[in-house]
Amino acid sequence: MPDPAPTPLSNRALMTWYLDAGVDETIGEQPVNRYAALQRSQGPVQAPVSGVADQSQTPLQQAPFQAPESQQVSQQMSQQDVQGDSIVQNAYALAAAAKSVDDLRAALESFEGCALQKTATNLVFTDGNPKASLMMVGEAPGAEEDRQGVPFVGPSGKLVDQMLASIGLNREHVLITNTVFWRPPGNRSPTTQEIAICLPFLERLIELVDPKILVPVGGPASTALLAQQKGITKLRGHWFSYASSRMASPIPATPLLHPAYLLRSPAQKREVWKDLLAIRQKLDEA
Ligand code: URA
Repeated sequence: MPDPAPTPLSNRALMTWYLDAGVDETIGEQPVNRYAALQRSQGPVQAPVSGVADQSQTPLQQAPFQAPESQQVSQQMSQQDVQGDSIVQNAYALAAAAKSVDDLRAALESFEGCALQKTATNLVFTDGNPKASLMMVGEAPGAEEDRQGVPFVGPSGKLVDQMLASIGLNREHVLITNTVFWRPPGNRSPTTQEIAICLPFLERLIELVDPKILVPVGGPASTALLAQQKGITKLRGHWFSYASSRMASPIPATPLLHPAYLLRSPAQKREVWKDLLAIRQKLDEA
């Protein structure tokens, strides 16, 4: 018997399905040279006064030289890189002008350089105490964080609260944030570019809070802040120095396994317990 005809999805349901699957832009398999297409539709290219264009050519022949596909891709990528660089520079300028955590939030609210803003519901910036001695930096907001505009309020956040309570702390003793300030669609990991665009704000936040101890939570935060290439399971249990150009002195930093990983692999909680005790001891000494 043939399968029944599939019920067509509404446009809205289809878009929701794409977003949940992590799709955040529509691009083709091949790069399109829209400049050439525009020239063709507008007719012959005008020869520059001192130029040597062959007027006997048809408009199609006169279309600008089309670079081989591999070159088009690399040209496109370098244009993207240049654009990305200027977004990052703008982010550094905006962040540097912030004199308080509230200023920095306002700067992020006016910033339009991160593609994640297009799909996120809310800016997810900080939670806790801006004067805290301990600062924790997670990876990226999830669905619940996006809904509430507050970091670590979903299942991972509940575990963070328990981890803090196990060493006698709560959110009043820490400032919590992430490497990116908007939820990546479908809970995918943030890209290197998205992290690079948000990093100027994160660096400035660390300068403004000036904590005694910095704790990157999970691999992406450790890579972004400590410039370490090793995986999180090799980095945890060790102390590093975090510094940025405007900080008076470096801060001790130690990575923690991410609570989302602990929820999937509870046996690893033993390691986290040791790391939490080390953090508590360092805080007491500080
Ligand atoms: N995971 C993170 O890394 N950050 C959050 O805010 C929530 C979940």
